[in-house]
Amino acid sequence: MKTESRESAVIDEKQKAEPNRDVLILAIESSCDETAAAVVKNGREVLSNVISSQIDIHTLYGGVVPEIASRKHVENINVVIKEALQQAHKTLEEIDAIGVTYGPGLVGALLVGVAEAKAMAYAAEKPLIGVHHIEGHVSANYIADKNLEPPFICLVVSGGHTHLVIVKDYGRYEVVGRTRDDAAGEAFDKVARAIELGYPGGPKIDRLAKTGNADAIPFPKAVVNGAPLDFSFSGLKSAVLNYINSCKMKNQEYNKADIAASFQKAVVAVLTEHAMQACEQYHIDKLAIAGGVAANSAIRDSLKYHCEQKKIAFFCPPNILCTDNAAMIGSAAYYEYMAGIRDGYDLNAIPNLKIGERMTGKGSSGK
Ligand code: KG4
Ligand code: ZN
Repeated sequence: MKTESRESAVIDEKQKAEPNRDVLILAIESSCDETAAAVVKNGREVLSNVISSQIDIHTLYGGVVPEIASRKHVENINVVIKEALQQAHKTLEEIDAIGVTYGPGLVGALLVGVAEAKAMAYAAEKPLIGVHHIEGHVSANYIADKNLEPPFICLVVSGGHTHLVIVKDYGRYEVVGRTRDDAAGEAFDKVARAIELGYPGGPKIDRLAKTGNADAIPFPKAVVNGAPLDFSFSGLKSAVLNYINSCKMKNQEYNKADIAASFQKAVVAVLTEHAMQACEQYHIDKLAIAGGVAANSAIRDSLKYHCEQKKIAFFCPPNILCTDNAAMIGSAAYYEYMAGIRDGYDLNAIPNLKIGERMTGKGSSGK
């Protein structure tokens, strides 16, 4: 399915990449609550990676408030971009192309980055490249490991997404597993709220779980009938809420650390099993992880251990490249740029952009 902006994407002569020359991408990310800009060289080398987090203000409300996120992006975006160029010791003239997240995400938040990128591309006469946020997360692995090449399997686990993706080639993806309901990060955040840890819950559960007994409460590991690589976390989340409610009704104390550890164990088990199964089923011996939840220490340890057992190479970006950032967007934009993909000035924010949708639209318009 083509997207509107892709159909009118153009590539003219002056926008083509010159061979054997360093390519600098200025990347912008504003899909949720981080305003970020980065300068990335040749898709793998980060010259700057500036992130202005809004977590403090959203914490006051117990989660991301979309309108506040958009307003904060408007306030911060120019400052963050200026800083990214300065830290990279580059001017806008030296940049080859501008990459920007255009979906999925919060529409008002995405629009700030997209409008900014379009204005800059127009004013500086630079090519414009819209990037899928999840492809950005996957591409963080290219920065973290300079030798990683497709094909590989990537487990993308973030606040809004849980996907098992086969990265067939640069810019070519096949989703082989996805969540049917809550994303993994959403489940972490909701359980954290239930045990009054605050927002964002993932890192707090990760820390607290280290002090709890993971075998204390047998929370269920959900499976989706007929779709063994798909995920479902809403049942697990409900089981945690039911457990807390039943303790409250019986006037029983409950141990928050045990709940955190037992919940996390159930999530880790499902993510590990499905990722291992995907590698086996598709005969791929490289597994990467991506997204905010990939910062979780138990998930990293479990995947590392099981990959070692099965002789699968494991790729895991540092935390700073797992959570939302623009360097990952710069890496994804670089491979699009080299493939000759360009966007028109009608590029729009697409809040529910699917991975396949994006790929087909781009491929059909830019080459
Ligand atoms: O990728 P990300 O920064 O934003 C989205 O694209 O959604 O992911 C944010 C999510 C939040 O749900 C947060 O709680 C979760 O990542 N997260 C973690 C950890 N650090 C962040 N979840 C579990 N363990 C962590 N250490
Ligand atoms: Zn993200």
